[in-house]
Amino acid sequence: DETSILTGRATRVWRYVGNLIKGPPDALTALPDAYLGPLLRFKKGQKVRIRLRNELPEETITHWHGLHVPMLMDGHPTAAIDPGETYVYEFEIRNRAGMYFYHPHTHEKTATQVYRGLAGAIIVEDEEERALGLPSGEFEIPLVIQDRSFDDDNQLAYGGDMHTSMFGFYGDRVLVNGRSDLTLDVASRAYRLRILNGSNARIYKLCWDDRTPLTVIGVDGGLLEKAETRPYVMLAPAERVDLIVDFSGRPQGAKLTMLSGEFYGLIPPMAQRMMGSDLAMGEEFPLFTARVTKASTDSWKLPEKLSTIRRFRKDEIANLDDPMPIAITMAHMAMFLNGRPYGHDDIQPRERIPVDTTQLIEIFHEHGGMGGMGGMGMGGMQGRGMMGGGMMRGRMGGMGMGGMGMMGMMSMAHPIHLHGQPFEIIERRFEGDEDAYASIRDGLIDSGLKDTVLVSPGERLRIIKPFGDFKGRFMYHCHNLEHEDAGMMREFSVE
Ligand code: C2O
Ligand code: CU
Repeated sequence: DETSILTGRATRVWRYVGNLIKGPPDALTALPDAYLGPLLRFKKGQKVRIRLRNELPEETITHWHGLHVPMLMDGHPTAAIDPGETYVYEFEIRNRAGMYFYHPHTHEKTATQVYRGLAGAIIVEDEEERALGLPSGEFEIPLVIQDRSFDDDNQLAYGGDMHTSMFGFYGDRVLVNGRSDLTLDVASRAYRLRILNGSNARIYKLCWDDRTPLTVIGVDGGLLEKAETRPYVMLAPAERVDLIVDFSGRPQGAKLTMLSGEFYGLIPPMAQRMMGSDLAMGEEFPLFTARVTKASTDSWKLPEKLSTIRRFRKDEIANLDDPMPIAITMAHMAMFLNGRPYGHDDIQPRERIPVDTTQLIEIFHEHGGMGGMGGMGMGGMQGRGMMGGGMMRGRMGGMGMGGMGMMGMMSMAHPIHLHGQPFEIIERRFEGDEDAYASIRDGLIDSGLKDTVLVSPGERLRIIKPFGDFKGRFMYHCHNLEHEDAGMMREFSVE
């Protein structure tokens, strides 16, 4: 298909085209630009049927990121369909209100399929949220941020080289809802901005240009219990953040620009240098602008309590003394999880999980031993604390390459995503370059339910995740899509 993204020649894209057969009229709304798939709106408890018809020249399958569905409905790579085939999804919406994400999960082709345009946002509503009377309708704006590169002919350009598969793809233009330089015309009142990072690899540091703090009301798995005020929010691929921004009191014509602010240490300096200076990750650049064009007298106050999150008690955790490891490991210039590349039917003992249990999981960078084979089944504790302080310094020119081992050169942040039910982050420890970490730490929102979490070099996280209702194979992987395609993915077997 073709869509105009830049001025001039239309861009050829692949995209999801929706056609609603039955359901409420707003269940499927096109975002203003056709680059993204339609916005899907579901209600908790609703039963949905979706027919995926593959009109691409290659196989594909769609995953409903963040939704708790049976394995056969989850877009498992083994369910991929050939050109001309149809896959019928039928599932019940069990998730709480929140913003979710759909995209392909095709074996080794996820990154390129998403890049060409196959992605869209899902909004789930529920009673708990409705009772709050949050800004809705035109005052609730979903924003999907992606970075792309274009050739002289306005066609999408994709790296696809060694650098891309090692560090991920980084475009030199930001698209928001499929548009470059997006400006939103807003009224002088409160808005709800629901932001999804739909980029392949790029991490953003969201902040307003005038340093107005961000009011965060939700993350991946829905509303927080109470709003949090932050100077900025880090948003890694597939993460979502729900913000309230109040334009009341701002005069007509006032502009507020959302930037990605400066940060360090999430990618090796070498890789950052290779991105060039246009839009290197960690440098400041604009994302979109809101311009006040209408006066409004609507006043709205953020409720003190937003939601109730069910927290797990210690005695509900099946493996309190023996956390399941997810080690970020490296072997032969590629990054893996628990030392092994993705392989269907390669389930290791620690990846077998009894259904309807709640597990403690530890996610960490393993820097001992290139082979990294020891991770599985032994608690994966080796390598702990071996990150030398200076090794992950990301500042340009802040440190030469001399003396850095391979590990230091490769060490980067990974957005780790687990399929199935969302998890709770109970601990985040850091040992490493404090200066670099200071440029991101206030932007990590750990109080809500998550399905994707950014794990920076030097960090060690503990999460609690339920594995309820459905048996089968469920993936966990890095959501840097180039990493995922290069094998940084594994499966849990819920039995
Ligand atoms: Cu958004 Cu397994 O992916
Ligand atoms: Cu990764």
